[in-house]
Amino acid sequence: MTDLTPTREDKFSFGLWTVGYNGADPFGGPTREHLDTVHVVEKLAELGAYGLTFHDDDLFPFGSSDEVRQGEIDRLKQVLADTGLIVPMVTTNLFTAPVFKDGGFTSNDRAVRRYALRKVLRNIDLAAELGAKTYVMWGGREGAEYTHAKDIRLALERYREAVNLLGQYVTDKGYDMRFAIEPKPNEPRGDILLPTLGHAIAFIETLERPELVGINPEVGHEQMAGLSFTAGVAQALYQGKLYHIDLNGQRGIKYDQDLVFGHGDLYDAFALVDLLENGAPQGGPSYDGPRHFDYKPSRTEDETGVWESARANMRNYLLLKERAAAFRADPEVQEALAAARLTELAQPTLNDGESYDQLLADRSAWEDFDPSAYYNGRGFNFIRLQQLATEHLLGARG
Ligand code: GCO
Ligand code: MN
Ligand code: MN
Repeated sequence: MTDLTPTREDKFSFGLWTVGYNGADPFGGPTREHLDTVHVVEKLAELGAYGLTFHDDDLFPFGSSDEVRQGEIDRLKQVLADTGLIVPMVTTNLFTAPVFKDGGFTSNDRAVRRYALRKVLRNIDLAAELGAKTYVMWGGREGAEYTHAKDIRLALERYREAVNLLGQYVTDKGYDMRFAIEPKPNEPRGDILLPTLGHAIAFIETLERPELVGINPEVGHEQMAGLSFTAGVAQALYQGKLYHIDLNGQRGIKYDQDLVFGHGDLYDAFALVDLLENGAPQGGPSYDGPRHFDYKPSRTEDETGVWESARANMRNYLLLKERAAAFRADPEVQEALAAARLTELAQPTLNDGESYDQLLADRSAWEDFDPSAYYNGRGFNFIRLQQLATEHLLGARG
């Protein structure tokens, strides 16, 4: 077994709100003390992470005076300098304060929308100052509980207006920063706008500067909608839109569990790490950005459990990375991929330059083709491939 100690090269990052989660949920208050930013950064550095991310309100409470805000920024800068940790991504809290109860960019109340934009612009300046290359937008409150309460067409127009303005801003300021929209189907709103990564990618194409905007998909969010996270990420990579990623664990269609990465759907986690590290099975881009954990240490844990969970995220990623490398290198897996005809999928359906006239003239494609051969024959051997994946995942093969 190779060394599984995380290093800065692994690009593991954590949200300040993740390890900093105090255990409060809709049914109960905090079960742990608030953790100070300086302490969090020191611990993350010690455990092998390379980055810290945060919402404005994680660093300085909503409504802080300029003085308090600056004080917290200075403390953060100092501990970053002391530890060498970086801030690869920053985001805005447009969901906790009562003013955002109907959303930020898409609230029916215009004054709230203008206020939300000001809050984001101010925080983008801070993100640029700290060298963040990615600005995440999770619109948790952009949505509705009641179908008649939101004009979706207009809400999307206002969303567009907001993101276009932010794109204009970073361009004019010369900031080296891209945006990543984070989809989620529901929670806290009954239904959230841009609920899946597919909705988000389609929306991005309507923007003035689509090249500045990609997605930040989260494992649990797609799985809450019953979707395959890995398949979605594969499409995002294919379309050049995977600008950031939120890793965590989810067990089925229910509330957002935010478990440790690998503590949910382990098969999908295995396939995901394989995809991120090695690209699609027959080639294609892999992912080079931060491996960002957006999870919550369960409220049953004390501070020891918090750091145990931070370690577990990174260790599971590295274990899966090791398993994925062995899976790819196994000659039997290569054979099974061919037997499952994945190699054949790489072959274009039409011959080079073939027209539909030529296809219509090809007797082997229709007149002489025997579809009945697929009954009781011509199996695809997918189960053998999946069993090999299972054996690698369980450590039963080299
Ligand atoms: C959630 C979201 C958030 C966002 C964060 C960054 O479901 O609560 O995943 O944690 O990732 O707000 O914008
Ligand atoms: Mn989440
Ligand atoms: Mn997230």
